[in-house]
Amino acid sequence: MDVLSVAAEVYPLIKTGGLADVAGALPGALAPHGVAMRTLLPGYPAVLGSLEDGTVVAEMGDCFGGPARLLLGRAAGLELIALDAPHLYDRPGNPYLGPDGKDWPDNWRRFAALSFAAYELGRGLVEGYRPQIAHCHDWQAALTPAYVAFNAPTRVRTVMTVHNISFQGHFGWDIFGDLRLDYRAAAEGAIEYYGGIGYLKAGLQCADAVTTVSPTYAQELRTAEFGMGLEGLLQSRADVLHGILNGIDVAAWDPARDPALAQTYSAETLPLRAVNRAALCGRFGLDDGPRPLFAVVSRLTRQKGMDMLVECIDGLVEMGGRLCVLGSGEEALEDGLGAAAARHPGRVGFIRGYDEALAHLIQGGADVILVPSRFEPCGLTQLYGLRYGCVPLVSRVGGLADTVIDANVAALDAGVATGIVFAPATTAALLDAVRRAVDLYARPGLWLKMQRRGMKSDVSWDASAEKYAALYADLLGVKRHDDQDR
Ligand code: ADP
Ligand code: GLC
Repeated sequence: MDVLSVAAEVYPLIKTGGLADVAGALPGALAPHGVAMRTLLPGYPAVLGSLEDGTVVAEMGDCFGGPARLLLGRAAGLELIALDAPHLYDRPGNPYLGPDGKDWPDNWRRFAALSFAAYELGRGLVEGYRPQIAHCHDWQAALTPAYVAFNAPTRVRTVMTVHNISFQGHFGWDIFGDLRLDYRAAAEGAIEYYGGIGYLKAGLQCADAVTTVSPTYAQELRTAEFGMGLEGLLQSRADVLHGILNGIDVAAWDPARDPALAQTYSAETLPLRAVNRAALCGRFGLDDGPRPLFAVVSRLTRQKGMDMLVECIDGLVEMGGRLCVLGSGEEALEDGLGAAAARHPGRVGFIRGYDEALAHLIQGGADVILVPSRFEPCGLTQLYGLRYGCVPLVSRVGGLADTVIDANVAALDAGVATGIVFAPATTAALLDAVRRAVDLYARPGLWLKMQRRGMKSDVSWDASAEKYAALYADLLGVKRHDDQDR
């Protein structure tokens, strides 16, 4: 099966969050399941700069306001098609934001062009390459199913994956004339969203199948609390909505081989983590001690519950805990964390920024990884935590609820607990969960078992890759050799 994955970011070329990890891992995960996946992405400088053997496979005289080319090549083991359109993408840094920290004003055009290129590829723009499925990630790729549904016909089938419904690509009507989208898309209400144009709305309405990144989030999305205005549409599409859990790249995230660690280790040699813990404390200026070291690696936003975290810090320190935070985001949260670090020298450390290697060291050295999100489509940090014996403490939402088993009495008795899960997502409940973690940590035998169990849980792509492959096969009416096992 030939699948074109369409995404605005792909690890390791360009990343702002989990979407990049997933888009980067899917092709490798799907290869053993009979799927040949190429990835279409914008030709940002970081992408063009890493493309090996880039060959021009198509030229477009006018690609949404300027000339463009499609380059086929490889980078970091991925088969890529880069949309080289300097007027849209030749801008350094963050893929969505300008130097002022605000969305580029022409983002509607930048990502309409990406979706249009995907549609053209589906129509056979490049000789010898005709993907059977366009798999579109988030709003940046979400116009693709609308072009497929309303412009000149093509046989390509479309899958729309929601990684985060809070980013919807909502613009004014005035852009419609420049979208190159058949007028019927407007007439039939496929792109209208609260009086403007909704890219994600269009994708959700027009795609042949819709997926999101955990079963629980697939349920939550159909409710007013989590659907962010799109719940009605998702209810109406419930028959084609699937929740398929993300996995992680278990080769890149392997405590036994991770070059970013001060000391590698395995489930059998967990005491060696102390070396990483010491290195971590050094980096964050913390005193190493007998009480648990809590950690956060995150975008600093309300989604991630970081305001609740800030409110909990004094309590956490009072219980003897230490905390290190790596992240950047909303200014008030950065200020709150900076102030907490100043208030609790040696106990609380905050490094503002983005640092992939340090994120690894944190998972390999801290005792608890905190993910107190208000909503979390899947979440990858808790999966890295499980894999690294860094016990996850998470709120009971979305993919967090699907991947961590709370250490309640029943789960401890049954020997299945892998972390601490709390609800509702409030400051009080978070602080209570921190207290539970401190108490559990004081029972080293029990803690060690919980770490080991987490390290054994399957966080790989295996099961989910099979689900994506089965979904593609269903859409294409392809019979697969392992169908009888399903
Ligand atoms: P989201 O995509 O909503 O931000 P995920 O948990 O799915 O959340 O993915 C976040 C990814 O970004 C993980 O790979 C995490 O390690 C990484 N990450 C987030 N913030 C930072 C940071 N400040 N430095 C390094 N890595 C980070
Ligand atoms: C989004 C979500 C996150 C998910 C990631 C990858 O950024 O916020 O929960 O893990 O996409 O699917």
